[in-house]
Amino acid sequence: MVRLVLLLCALALAAAEERCLPSVTTVSGSHAPVTVCSGALIFADDFDVFDLERWQHENTLAGGGNWEFQWYSNNRTNSFTHSGLLFLRPSLTSDQYGQGFLTSARLNIEGGAPADRCTNPQWWGCERTGTPTNILNPIKSARIRTVDSFRFRYGRVEVRAKMPAGDWLWPAIWLMPSHNVYGTWPASGEIDLVESRGNRNMFSNGVHIGVQEAGSTLHYGPYPELNGWERAHWVRRNTNGYHSQFHRYQLEWTPDFIRFSIDDVELGRVTPGAGGFWQHGGFNSNPNILNPWRFGSKMAPFDEKEVEQRELKYRDFLNSKSTLVIIQKHYQALITTQPHYNKHDNVYRME
Ligand SMILES: *[C@@H]1O[C@H](CO)[C@@H](O)[C@H](O)[C@H]1NC(C)=O
Repeated sequence: MVRLVLLLCALALAAAEERCLPSVTTVSGSHAPVTVCSGALIFADDFDVFDLERWQHENTLAGGGNWEFQWYSNNRTNSFTHSGLLFLRPSLTSDQYGQGFLTSARLNIEGGAPADRCTNPQWWGCERTGTPTNILNPIKSARIRTVDSFRFRYGRVEVRAKMPAGDWLWPAIWLMPSHNVYGTWPASGEIDLVESRGNRNMFSNGVHIGVQEAGSTLHYGPYPELNGWERAHWVRRNTNGYHSQFHRYQLEWTPDFIRFSIDDVELGRVTPGAGGFWQHGGFNSNPNILNPWRFGSKMAPFDEKEVEQRELKYRDFLNSKSTLVIIQKHYQALITTQPHYNKHDNVYRME
């Protein structure tokens, strides 16, 4: 079925050959299209098969630098496709190895085959020893990315997804920079299409911040302690919960603005002025910090290629009162090009 989708795209391109209008979108990677026409589909996955040539699994205990307690691996218990849906589903490490394993084992996840290499050694990500006070990662889960197969800059992204419910769950669909052109995180930016906590009952000042909240965020700044995300973070509430229905999480990423929407309703946007994201983040007030984006465009760091990444992560500050719920998470991804921008009429055209 994936082959069929590619074929349809190729036919559409052939028919429209004479009117292949240029696009500001650029792509790279083993599965990127050769020609990028304005408005064309450049990446799609209907998950009729789980194509691991496109989706690389992360293999690490690192916990994202937040001491999240998942162990990401490539295992069809935790990530699989069925009936055109991608499922990311956690399981208990103790179900596989027993309870004693968590507090006493030495775990080394480095494998010999290319596909089994540990993908992130940071924060004891490849080898850990469990103790009664510092247990091994108790949850197995999955995080997949298109790092080698597909990278793009500017375009529209739409992911149809159903969020999981259950304490500790914190699913995310992100775009991460592929080459860190402006330096390591967060200097090269991070586009969080959607994050939503799985808790059915989690309140902050009377506001439900669990399944009833979904948010989109940009991370950007010269170094980790200086990150302007609070000026580029939006949430929307849904009293039915984002776990009960599929929703379409959307991004429009252009040389002039970044806009997030859910189900075609705008959630938030940043249209930086001449001072770019340096000014948007308020970093210009300190003349002693060197702006890593000073030679980039006003969209810097969001003017370099990013890769698609989906994950299901856990974080230990979340409410632990109820038991872990097995979740099903469904995705459909579509990425189209950003149409050519006509500076004169100030309008983006799908052509
Ligand atoms: C995959 O996960 C299941 C469930 O935890 C486990 O039983 C199985 O042994 C795992 N496979 C590998 C190769 O670790």
